[in-house]
Amino acid sequence: MKTRIGILTGGGDCPGLNAVIRSVVIAAAQRGWATVGILGGFDGLLQPVHARELLPEDMDGLLYLGGTILGTSNRGRFTAKVGHGAVRQIDPAILAEAKVGFDQLELRALVVVGGDGSLTIGLQCQAAGIPVVGVPKTIDNDIGGTVVTFGFDTAVSFATDALDRLRSTAQSHQRVMVCEMMGRYAGWIALHSGISGGADVILLPEIPYDIEAVCAKVRAREAAGKHDSLIVVAEGARAKDGDFVTTAGAADATGGAFREARLGGVATQVAEQIQALTGKETRICVLGHLQRGGVPTTFDRLICTRFGVSAVRLIAEERYGRMVSLQPPDTTDVAIADAIGKLRTVPLDGDLVRTARALGICLGDR
Ligand code: F6P
Repeated sequence: MKTRIGILTGGGDCPGLNAVIRSVVIAAAQRGWATVGILGGFDGLLQPVHARELLPEDMDGLLYLGGTILGTSNRGRFTAKVGHGAVRQIDPAILAEAKVGFDQLELRALVVVGGDGSLTIGLQCQAAGIPVVGVPKTIDNDIGGTVVTFGFDTAVSFATDALDRLRSTAQSHQRVMVCEMMGRYAGWIALHSGISGGADVILLPEIPYDIEAVCAKVRAREAAGKHDSLIVVAEGARAKDGDFVTTAGAADATGGAFREARLGGVATQVAEQIQALTGKETRICVLGHLQRGGVPTTFDRLICTRFGVSAVRLIAEERYGRMVSLQPPDTTDVAIADAIGKLRTVPLDGDLVRTARALGICLGDR
């Protein structure tokens, strides 16, 4: 019988998911294997199983299509992370049911395309008897074991473009513009796009901010004849004496299902304080899910394609429990167990932070 492998996408969607699916399906077909797409994330393995065979001839156009044709989920019975990142063990009865679904589909192995949460679930599935290989996905770029996750480059490109647009309106109106970006508890998107977009202030989760330092920067620019300021705020940024800012509403709307806390709203607080303390007219822009949609960049398409091929190779070599990884110039692999559970944050003594400081960009601490 033809070898059959499964693939699912888990967690938040991300540019490049479809490019990975395409690559896995084509690379598997080259080996004479069939690929089955599990629909709606891990839940698709539960009864009644939701899955469909993916044919190589149906993969046209997926390289540049945003979202995931398989669907995904970041809450519910298959949530391995809750609150501010606490790990949760999936109910063994649910894992056992997933194994039944896997066997029913007559799969050899499962490719899990996901972030830290989905890869954590993947390992729990493997412990329940499902051979798993992982592909690291997230715009947040906060997974260890790879120099970059796919989706990050696209999110940064979009955010940088947004900053260019915000600068021109800030200059025209002599305003302060505060732009909030995703990234959860890591400031990678904010720092990369903030430097590339010429921001004056970048507030990161890694550096609790003092609003007085931010206002001092705005005032200094004013004194130097620069009447506009561009301020990037990561959604996970928090004041020195404050906590993460979260949005309650939609989290409640999950009906009590397990999920991670929803960050959001810090830009509003920062903008209100700047306006009150400096007298400068201030506006906010929250990029939100725009960062997750759309066409992946060339860089992301390329690593997605390489990751998909590497995932199929790992299955051919029966090297399960591994995650594909980019270590330029090569794609290689690491143990999923070594990549997950350690939030990869921006190093404070790294070159990016040094670069920002050398340019006089305020990081909120001085
Ligand atoms: O992890 C990706 C991400 O987009 C984070 O940057 C953000 O905090 C979160 O997902 C948003 O999740 P949701 O789509 O459930 O609101």
